[in-house]
Amino acid sequence: MVQYNPAPYDLQFVNNTLPTPNLPVDNPLTIEKVKLGRMLFYNKDLSSNGSVSCASCHNQQNAFSDVNKFSVGVNGATGDRQAMAIFNMAWHDNEFFWDGRAHLLRDQSLGPIENPLEMNESLENVILKLSNDPVMRNQFIRAFGSTEITSGKMSLAMENFMMSIISDDSKYDRYLAGLTQLSASEERGRVLFFGEYNEFFPEISGADCAHCHAGNNFENDLYMNNGLDIDAQFIDFGRELVTDLASDRAKFKVTTLRNIAVTPPYMHDGRFQTLEEVVDHYNEGVKNSSTVDPALLGTTSTCLMLDEQEKKDLINFLKTLTDYTMLNNPAYADPF
Ligand code: HEC
Ligand code: HEC
Repeated sequence: MVQYNPAPYDLQFVNNTLPTPNLPVDNPLTIEKVKLGRMLFYNKDLSSNGSVSCASCHNQQNAFSDVNKFSVGVNGATGDRQAMAIFNMAWHDNEFFWDGRAHLLRDQSLGPIENPLEMNESLENVILKLSNDPVMRNQFIRAFGSTEITSGKMSLAMENFMMSIISDDSKYDRYLAGLTQLSASEERGRVLFFGEYNEFFPEISGADCAHCHAGNNFENDLYMNNGLDIDAQFIDFGRELVTDLASDRAKFKVTTLRNIAVTPPYMHDGRFQTLEEVVDHYNEGVKNSSTVDPALLGTTSTCLMLDEQEKKDLINFLKTLTDYTMLNNPAYADPF
């Protein structure tokens, strides 16, 4: 007999380098809900032709992101934004997707199912398929105490699973915990990353990345324009699509830089293939537009003036943010 006996799930921290998580109080993490969420995340029955699961576009090896510029959904359809990495979701206090159109993580989780370019399936059909699968039915009992499957329960379980994916065991975390040292190049990159840019002394100033990619999760919960295009080139209006404010035009979520070395390509449209291209962009490619962030605009007169060695140092620092423990953690892998 399958039992309903929910036990609290403890997040798997390794180095305690992250601030206190902001977990949803109305959807506490339980072992059985996290497990159900994981079984849904890896379940191809969520797509119309049984070919795509969430994990198809959110691969663990790539920090639950996709190396394709535009992810391929059912029937080979593609969207126009790059898939985002999924981990440390409890520290994203300000909505989800590149434009922040999903208020809560649970709201987000049903969107891909019904999106014609992603899984292209109706929630009614998914519920029917899951109800016919005894393994899934039993897990719904363990997680929620009843065989009744609803989209609301699915979204709560997937929220639980995504909240459970923790990244805090990169080389940088171990450095913060006093367990290892950075190489000379990584350390120079760290100083550049956190150092403020000073337009009067550009040759000795930092690259000011932490101005936006801030704190130990390397993001700031804001939507900003990092100077990718001039106004006439804006294709995707980003945050403006959600707020209807022209002042939000072409602003996008400031994403975390944890695990950034394994999540190419980069930016909302995947326009840069390598971290070298990203650093070149900030170093000398920032474009002036109506909504570009003033801090970045201030760098355009002189550029950041990073030389070849400094660019390498910055990239070597970014590589210390890769967390192989998370990338290989069996607790987050395909349960089937
Ligand atoms: C066909 C590829 C594809 C599939 C399948 C897919 N996603 Fe995504 N995911 C994306 C893309 C692309 C984005 C960015 C979309 C945007 O901003 O408009 C994204 C964004 C997200 C985000 C936002 C992360 C953040 O930091 O804001 C979450 C969470 C997410 N997906 C979870 C899921 C879940 C859960 C499923 C399965 C129910 C799923 N995805 C299925 C491609 C996919
Ligand atoms: C003014 C704020 C700001 C500053 C300063 C800034 N960034 Fe960003 N960064 C952003 C925003 C916003 C995005 C997402 C832009 C988009 O996709 O349209 C981004 C995206 C990125 C990405 C791609 C992320 C992904 O998931 O594809 C990388 C890598 C990156 N930044 C590295 C850096 C580095 C290195 C520096 C310092 C040289 C830096 N950033 C400085 C705001 C900033």
